Amino acid sequence: MGKTARVVSPRVKWGIVGTGTMGCTAIKALKEAASAEVVAITDVNAEARRKAQETFEIEHSFDNLELLLEKADVDAIYIATPPYLHCQQAVQAAEAGKHVFCEKPMAMSEEECQRMIEACKRNGVKLMVGFKARFNSYHQHLRKMIVKGELGELVFLRAERIVLIDCKWGWHEDPRISGGGVLADLGTHAIDLLRYLAGSEVTSVRGITSRVTDYHSPEIEETGSILLRFANNAQGIINISIASPIDRADVWACGTRGEVICRNTLGGAGNGSMEVIIRGKRRQVTLPANNEYQCEVEHFSQCILHNRQPLISGEDGLECTRILTRVYQEESR
Ligand SMILES: NC(=O)c1ccc[n+]([C@@H]2O[C@H](COP(=O)([O-])OP(=O)(O)OC[C@H]3O[C@@H](n4cnc5c(N)ncnc54)[C@H](O)[C@@H]3O)[C@@H](O)[C@H]2O)c1
Repeated sequence: MGKTARVVSPRVKWGIVGTGTMGCTAIKALKEAASAEVVAITDVNAEARRKAQETFEIEHSFDNLELLLEKADVDAIYIATPPYLHCQQAVQAAEAGKHVFCEKPMAMSEEECQRMIEACKRNGVKLMVGFKARFNSYHQHLRKMIVKGELGELVFLRAERIVLIDCKWGWHEDPRISGGGVLADLGTHAIDLLRYLAGSEVTSVRGITSRVTDYHSPEIEETGSILLRFANNAQGIINISIASPIDRADVWACGTRGEVICRNTLGGAGNGSMEVIIRGKRRQVTLPANNEYQCEVEHFSQCILHNRQPLISGEDGLECTRILTRVYQEESR
């Protein structure tokens, strides 16, 4: 690592790449964040760009990333484009000396993730992947309980996101653009969250995928389940589907002393709840709602300002991609 991260103050100046759904959510979050400001955007779609610039009163708008990197005075880049562009855009931003926040899934392959990590290291800039579920206040509380040993030895961790998408799903339908179906999209949040909660590396992966409706392209999975074994012998279970309207977004942790059920915490709506049952004693935990998007961009901005390591590294994104790749490889055999 030849260079060191730039010192910027008092607020981190951000450039947004892609002003679609996530790009606009990121701009809103950054506008609320104390240590950040959005100074420039880029999108290949002129209408999306114009709308975002007008709505959020952004100073500079460009039709390509190269121009943004050349002309705008930004410290960090938020990549909110479809996954097949993440690697190329992250490397480009890193080479220009900009810190990189990249949406999930990190990239299309382990090799692409490696290239992103190396480019950021080589250029002395920070890299973080947008696994916002780590910032949910219930998940953070659960992590603390696990670390303190309140659940005893961890036995099971389960994450479920089940929601109905009964229409075509845009670029997600093409795995050459999206990197896969529901597991690449919603599943990557769950994989990363279970690794975070377990605090232990995954040593074994099994997965299956399927489809029961005909809403989506046969090229992507509509439903997927993953079984994980962690080095500490805890087991992870992930169930993801866009085929049922039950709208479940739950996380469950079970240990040798009891269990914790987080309801509606894996969807980001901020209205979750938590039930703790330890040695048969039941209690409800209520925490103030937090905006995970705002927390993650505030966190990354603070890491840049104070030269700290982000909570989620490029290696975390790579590991998630490795697990996902194992599942897809197993299913294609
Ligand atoms: N963390 C989350 O909760 C969350 C939620 C939604 C999406 N995402 C992720 O965010 C990313 C974007 O998803 P989305 O739903 O916003 O997609 P989207 O289709 O709504 O927006 C993508 C935007 O990127 C633009 N774009 C395409 N090619 C470009 C290029 N070369 N340069 C600049 N802009 C370009 C498109 O014109 C579009 O406006 C994906 O990786 C997705 O998985 C994350």
